Amino acid sequence: VVVGYARSDLDDTSLRERVREYLKGPAESVDAFLSCCFYERGAYEDPTRTNVFGALGERIGGFEASRGVSAAHRIFYLALPPSVYPPVCANIKEGCMSVSGWTRVIVEKPFGRDLRSSEELSSGISELFSEAQLYRIDHYLGKELTQNLVVMRFANRFLAPLWNRDNISNVQIIFKEPFGTQGRGGYFDQYGIIRDIIQNHLLQLLCLVAMEKPCSLSPDDIRDEKLKVLRCIEPVSTDKVALGQYTNGPDGPAYLDDPTVPAGSRAPTFAMTVLEVNNERWEGVPFIVKAGKALNEHKCEIRLQLKDVPGDLFAAQRVNGRQARNEFVVRLQPDPAIYMKMTVKEPGLGMELAQSELELLYTEKYEDTPIPEAYERLILDCINGDQQHFVRRDELVAAWTIFTPLLKYIDAGGLQPELYPYGSRGPSNADKLRERAGYIPNLTAKDITWAY
Ligand code: BG6
Repeated sequence: VVVGYARSDLDDTSLRERVREYLKGPAESVDAFLSCCFYERGAYEDPTRTNVFGALGERIGGFEASRGVSAAHRIFYLALPPSVYPPVCANIKEGCMSVSGWTRVIVEKPFGRDLRSSEELSSGISELFSEAQLYRIDHYLGKELTQNLVVMRFANRFLAPLWNRDNISNVQIIFKEPFGTQGRGGYFDQYGIIRDIIQNHLLQLLCLVAMEKPCSLSPDDIRDEKLKVLRCIEPVSTDKVALGQYTNGPDGPAYLDDPTVPAGSRAPTFAMTVLEVNNERWEGVPFIVKAGKALNEHKCEIRLQLKDVPGDLFAAQRVNGRQARNEFVVRLQPDPAIYMKMTVKEPGLGMELAQSELELLYTEKYEDTPIPEAYERLILDCINGDQQHFVRRDELVAAWTIFTPLLKYIDAGGLQPELYPYGSRGPSNADKLRERAGYIPNLTAKDITWAY
């Protein structure tokens, strides 16, 4: 049974009609699913009375009784502003806990705005629910290619010797969206792109790229390794950041033209930060993490650029006066793919060099295999009690520790975003920062048509 709960004036029928348009599949399956969906209207908190969720609890109890289940498990999925998490959790605890089975709570980001507010939130919730009951969801951990990172890295002998500071020059973790805030400006403006994407989604990807091999595949062994990576990253220095905000361009209106955005806002809709993981494997390798809205394309990818080949035999054949570097690319979306850019001989009588790819395109290789949505997989993990792909409290603390000083500096007006046109590649200060960090452009036709 799925019970929706909110303040909006809906009932079972109107909720079902709203949901119907998003469902795919044969009409009988859609109807069967919708017959299990219900709606209860109510407040999140009410200081004037106790047992605010009493009616909800009774209704859920009624569903369980009528279905005759012996162990009735309950998952509460909170997609709410963080300010109401503590009262909502308290109300669940008071009126909605399962008696015969388990109760788990999934919380959506944002988990606070900085280290202090996040810890306040965590402390409030942890008085009510244990860490084993709490599932902090980061849907990037549910994406197919994110989940493949651990397999790819630790089940392939040929990658292991390459994966370190001796061979890798720099790592890029890139998120680009071709649309702006689109009416979500009220939420977005309070957070900005660093809190919305970088501090959580992209940092989680960075951990999976950088972590050491865990002792086992148990959720805590993996999360222990991710935590170690986070703890090796110094708080971001303010000279290793480039910010942008989109203005009107051929593809759309300015951020400030969104009626839900406060006038004159300086919230960044684009950010690039350069992070360093100060451990034996990665010291000196910049991790260039970039995210932006209203850019020229839709993609999320991880790019590891290898160092130059020493003792270059082919100096005379160089294109643009320098070696084209190998790059290992994991593209999460769109069109999941893994490819290695390599230099080959241009076919023919000459000895010219060309750039080519060793590639695994999921849409071709696994054409008939449906790839589950991230949320689909993560909700199933929660049902199965598997916390591997959920964020632990200490990971959250470490992630906020990296970004909080920078965020405070930005919020205090220390850094201004550079304007970039809607639909462009982003602000020019980001390209300069990336070059300063050591990235050498090496784009093949395929990068350009696929992704750049
Ligand atoms: C969300 C952000 O967490 O992720 C949004 O709040 C963003 O701003 C979205 O658009 C991107 O998710 P995906 O899966 O579409 O890349």
